[in-house]
Amino acid sequence: MRIGILTGGGDCAGLNQAIRGAVMRGFDFGNECLGISEGWRGLIEGKTQTLGLKEVEGIIAQSGTILGTSRNNPYQEEKGVEKVKENIKGWGLDAIIAMGGEDTLGVTEKLFNEGIKVVGVPKTMDNDLSATDYTFGFDSSVTRAIEAATVLIDTGKSHRRVMILEVMGRHAGWVALFTGIASGADWILIPEREPEIEKMLEQIKKSHSRKNYALIVVSEGVVLPEVNVGEEEKDKFGHMILKKRKIGESLSKLIEERTGLETRVSVIGHMQRGGVPSVFDRILATRCGVKAAELVQEGKFGQMVALHGNEIVSVNLKEAVAKLKLVDDSWWNLAKVFFK
Ligand code: F6P
Repeated sequence: MRIGILTGGGDCAGLNQAIRGAVMRGFDFGNECLGISEGWRGLIEGKTQTLGLKEVEGIIAQSGTILGTSRNNPYQEEKGVEKVKENIKGWGLDAIIAMGGEDTLGVTEKLFNEGIKVVGVPKTMDNDLSATDYTFGFDSSVTRAIEAATVLIDTGKSHRRVMILEVMGRHAGWVALFTGIASGADWILIPEREPEIEKMLEQIKKSHSRKNYALIVVSEGVVLPEVNVGEEEKDKFGHMILKKRKIGESLSKLIEERTGLETRVSVIGHMQRGGVPSVFDRILATRCGVKAAELVQEGKFGQMVALHGNEIVSVNLKEAVAKLKLVDDSWWNLAKVFFK
């Protein structure tokens, strides 16, 4: 078989390892892979690249995606789907392995309904896909954020400051929650919970008087009461582009005004998406890529690879993209144990 592989949406650690897994396992079956460059844009505009053993054997330690990525949506572009179909036919592809988050997988599911043979691989640093226990990319990005938080504590302590770390995660608070718990933050703000400003301020004052510093982790998707975020720019999937929200800055201003404590904010941003992939992500991504190649071989299309417990399984793509996984009460209650 001839299998097209693409990566769409924001890049993350693990994509290269998943590509490598899929290509190497496909090789066992005598299949040939074609790299589709820059996500759906490559399928629409006809951009491909060679993808064989030579291209993948040295990428186990690299983050990002050798295929390139984009946030293009064929359903939003003129004749986008038609062009996708034409290219698949023209390149003689028997199947597509699409690696992505909710947006890319949503398109994958729609294309499956139009008769295209697809298999999905979930990736996202946001960890917000409900059909899999964890997505690769998450562990590495949280590891990076914890390193940043630890550094901020050192300087915060010296200057007796309140330090704020703003992290990514879009509309899910997983990155902030895990970063906060694992770095010993005094307060965490996530988009799923209404900010409890008075309680937070009390907590900051208590922590600061005990330790001479306080660490707050805030997710980029949080909205403070009384702050009007107005009309925000949206991407081609209708998601708000959160980079302009600047929640860390508004929070810093509020904390300084209401506590009188000197406060500084750091935004880790895209630094969370590169660097050395963690062991967890390398192994999970490798297993996902291998499983995707096996699903193609077994003719199990319209499926997505998933982690359930410690098993790599396959789930229906339709169910996989039906709803997002957000932080629930049990996780939030765990975080609150440490607000003391
Ligand atoms: O979905 C992954 C993610 O990193 C989000 O956490 C963040 O909001 C968004 O992508 C940033 O996107 P971009 O790389 O297009 O700025």
